[in-house]
Amino acid sequence: MTALDLSSPVAVVGTGTMGQGIAQVALVAGHPVRLYDTVPGRAREAADAIGARLDRLVEKERLTGADRDAARARLLPAEDLPELADCALVVEAVLERLDVKQDLFRALEGIVDDDCLLATNTSSLSVTAIGGALRVPGRFVGLHFFNPAPLLPLVEVVSGFATDVTYATRAYETARAWGKTPVACADTPGFIVNRIARPFYAEAFAVYESQGADPATIDAVLRESGGFRMGAFELTDLIGQDVNESVTRSVWESFFQDVRFTPSLAQRRLVESGRLGRKTGHGWYDHGEGAERPEPDTAEKRQPPAYVVAEGDLGPAAELLALIREAGIPVREEDEDSGSRLVLPSGGQLALADGQTSVEFRDVVYFDLALDYREAGRIALSASQDTSPQTLAEAIGLFQALGKQVSVIGDVPGMIVARTVARIIDLAHDAVAKGVATEEDIDTAMRLGVNYPLGPFEWSRRLGRSWAYALLDDLHLRDPSGRYAPSLALYRHAHASDKREGTAS
Ligand SMILES: NC(=O)c1ccc[n+]([C@@H]2O[C@H](COP(=O)([O-])OP(=O)(O)OC[C@H]3O[C@@H](n4cnc5c(N)ncnc54)[C@H](O)[C@@H]3O)[C@@H](O)[C@H]2O)c1
Repeated sequence: MTALDLSSPVAVVGTGTMGQGIAQVALVAGHPVRLYDTVPGRAREAADAIGARLDRLVEKERLTGADRDAARARLLPAEDLPELADCALVVEAVLERLDVKQDLFRALEGIVDDDCLLATNTSSLSVTAIGGALRVPGRFVGLHFFNPAPLLPLVEVVSGFATDVTYATRAYETARAWGKTPVACADTPGFIVNRIARPFYAEAFAVYESQGADPATIDAVLRESGGFRMGAFELTDLIGQDVNESVTRSVWESFFQDVRFTPSLAQRRLVESGRLGRKTGHGWYDHGEGAERPEPDTAEKRQPPAYVVAEGDLGPAAELLALIREAGIPVREEDEDSGSRLVLPSGGQLALADGQTSVEFRDVVYFDLALDYREAGRIALSASQDTSPQTLAEAIGLFQALGKQVSVIGDVPGMIVARTVARIIDLAHDAVAKGVATEEDIDTAMRLGVNYPLGPFEWSRRLGRSWAYALLDDLHLRDPSGRYAPSLALYRHAHASDKREGTAS
């Protein structure tokens, strides 16, 4: 057992939002906790605020009165840094500035023992860079908690270049002993969650910027078809457009302006105009008094087709055939080497989003990826100006007959859910190949850190690894900026699974 002993004092420096949350976690776990903040009186205020939160836990019967009293007695505000001398762990949650953090750790090193574990809660600075200021950098780690720290289980335990594995393990085991779910990751821009989650926002904004659909429709499709807890527009209104954009910009800049992380112009306009989301009353949506949330575009009722012909294997959408039959629509299945699609009585075709556009084909309607076609409440369709009205009507009627709402969006290659999921899968594979974290830890981090319904690797296995590769390859052909270029790691995985399936050419 390498976790810190519960009798060891833990210090939290910087007692704002995160510092208070982290202090509460360490305190409730059983440690004596010291609080320090440069603003006089703030550590005392933080101790009072933590005490009040403990009172609420007692009211909700999640903590006994005796445990609350004991915890309060263990919580000590410090007037000066030297009062932290006997601490075995110091977690820093101060201003997000490299010079401020480095100065603090330099000062701390002159006070605590050489064996004291030093941790930063930075979200966007390099752990290696902060640790560069230290005399003994091996005991320095990132302990990246999520807000609110007492509620959210995930902690990214970040090892900088100089971090000694003994200390990283101590930090990991201590987070686990505190009831958290730690994941180990290397020091990389955005760590795991803030790196791999970027396309969730970026692709939604890109569909909007390309006039594919409005925010309410994109959000509804992400939720009701993609299985995400919230859509990208409503979520960033909650987070704050400034906060979300600054994470994107920081990751993009740290990767030397890698085009895969390019920020959104539309979001920049929001930030510039002060439309920061709920906190300013206006973001993508109006949050003012009495403001009504716009409804997603939803197609009018159409007749279902009399039958469908299924050609080839629908891959990740194969479940649809059973649903169509259950809805009483006859399905004739035909083996087809050259593709997988549903042929409608109009002669037009319905195909799963694959990174191509409708306009490239004679009469095709694309449908978006769903997490689970049986459970999905809404399906997005995309058609071009060349799609026949009858084919579109039959496609709408088909999904309506399965009990789904239908949103018809513009002719956007990869649609909404499909391109988002493919890019998340790609960044996850790329991260593993670059030694950022294991597949298992990435899946855990994305499920716990941002509430994804599946981890990227679970999703990838479900969809087939070559699915994401093929979709991105097609998108890359249509947008050769490099934004959609599949990573070498995804190429390797796709190729390996092709070989296993005997389809390599
Ligand atoms: N807010 C979040 O959602 C979130 C999530 C994860 C990580 N973080 C990271 O946690 C850190 C703190 O963020 P926050 O939101 O709690 O900030 P905050 O502004 O709420 O609190 C920062 C506190 O640090 C104090 N402070 C500043 N310089 C100091 C110094 N040199 N010594 C001691 N105290 C100092 C300030 O007085 C303030 O009380 C940042 O590095 C941030 O990137 C924030």
